Amino acid sequence: MSVTRPGAGTVADIMSSPVVTASPDETVAGAAARMVEAQVGSVVVVDGERPVGILTERDLIRLAAGTTPASEARLSEWATQDPDTIPPATEPAAALETMERRGYRHLPVVEDGRLLGLVSLRDLVRVARIQPVDRPAAEVPRGLEGVAVAETAIGDVRGREGFFHYREYSAPDLAAKRSFEDVWHLLFEGRLPDDAAARAFAEEIRPLREIPADVRAILPEIARSGERFVPLDALRASYSILSLGFRPWLDTDALELRAQAMRTCAVLPTLTAALYRLRQGEEPVEPHPELGHAANYLYMVDGQVPPAAHARALEQYLVLTIDHGFNASTFTARVITSTGADLGSAIAGAIGALSGPLHGGAPSRALDMIEEIGSRDRADAWLRDAVESGKRLMGFGHRVYRTDDPRSTMLREVAERLDGERVEFAKEIEVKAVDVLRELKPGRELYPNVEFYAGIVMDLIGMPRELFTPTFACSRVVGWCAHVMEQAADNRLIRPSAWYVGPEPPRPVPG
Ligand code: ACO
Repeated sequence: MSVTRPGAGTVADIMSSPVVTASPDETVAGAAARMVEAQVGSVVVVDGERPVGILTERDLIRLAAGTTPASEARLSEWATQDPDTIPPATEPAAALETMERRGYRHLPVVEDGRLLGLVSLRDLVRVARIQPVDRPAAEVPRGLEGVAVAETAIGDVRGREGFFHYREYSAPDLAAKRSFEDVWHLLFEGRLPDDAAARAFAEEIRPLREIPADVRAILPEIARSGERFVPLDALRASYSILSLGFRPWLDTDALELRAQAMRTCAVLPTLTAALYRLRQGEEPVEPHPELGHAANYLYMVDGQVPPAAHARALEQYLVLTIDHGFNASTFTARVITSTGADLGSAIAGAIGALSGPLHGGAPSRALDMIEEIGSRDRADAWLRDAVESGKRLMGFGHRVYRTDDPRSTMLREVAERLDGERVEFAKEIEVKAVDVLRELKPGRELYPNVEFYAGIVMDLIGMPRELFTPTFACSRVVGWCAHVMEQAADNRLIRPSAWYVGPEPPRPVPG
């Protein structure tokens, strides 16, 4: 054990006080009951105000190992007599050294023979931030906010600037100028393709869109399963089957992993559309060989070649959501990959992480909210009421952005281009919601996130609401796979630690 960061102040600042005490003639059973009730690891035995002993969990274990019942054992016999004590001005580092030297977990704090408090190893570790070497060196913020856990060259999100990029290119610029497949190539190969490379990449993708026959045979079963059809869950299940043959990447090579990644990204839209159609009682639509990724996806969903404006709007959404730093699903994929597991496990895990409303499950809820508000005159009261009653406004707030989410800004433009009364109404809701959040959640800097206008764009292009989150998965899967390959190329097992904050062990096992 070593002091890795000196604690501030003295033990008087961190000790527990008042202390749970007992008199020497009390029984161990009575004192132990008081320990349990107060959830502490020791009772100080006092004669008046003077500490004369300390009963710790170790004494209880000693007693339990013998034959004397706790109801008959007296503290004067069973508690540790004349315990070491420390004065209140002791520095936490010195207290820790005493504990280490003497093997104690608790030290009474005494001044002029009077018991003032009790300092425990846990107090020292948690409050004074003096840590045994097997503890993390710094306190970790809840939800790992602001903690960098890996290095990546795939992209970066700059929350204060409202900027994000993929391999140095501004992501909204890419969405404005390039196709989904070009950005996919950028993430996988590290560069944007020239015309020849783009054609070769499209050729490579085309056959990989097909669902293998053995998986196709199982899809009707999956689509019918479950009381409620949750397309993302069905996608996860079918993808798990499709990836059954994928070997742990530790047992393969980079080429095989890339091939699995290409298949995964190419086939996910086909699986999504097929499951949706099967659940509607319709036959799946085969991929269209002439259509690009986004247009083909829309085509497979409703069987019609989509208007170019719809295909392009979807493509821009897909480019904007292809990757986004160390979001929960990407982190999940990298953690799974770090164990050497197969790509299928990493992607299935990432789909699971994406399914939660705090991550990817919000765009349909944002749309539901807009519809529930219904009219302009109800907006202010509705939003106020929701926030005051502790609800979250779906499509607002972000862990990283402290200003407008650039994806939301661009999707608002995409929605405006598609037109529709709802965009105007949504813009009014956006302004009101930001005002309400500023007033009721001051200092939190809450603005619309990608999901707010994503729902509107997808609604305007005719995407069924159940498919909003799976559509997000169909784009983010490219980012996941790029991260899996990056992790595999320079891997170390991701295995962090946790702070133990329960009562001090060991607790005597009853019986
Ligand atoms: N509506 C109301 N209050 C909110 C919202 C919201 N949408 N978002 C955050 N807050 C408040 C919280 O209540 C909290 O207030 P408090 O300090 O009074 O308790 C404060 O802002 C900070 O919230 P956290 O939960 O700590 O923020 P965190 O960074 O953990 O959460 C998240 C980010 C999950 C996106 C959150 O803003 C949220 O729940 N938004 C709604 C769901 C949503 O839109 N999800 C899609 C996210 S985008 C994506 O993943 C692609």
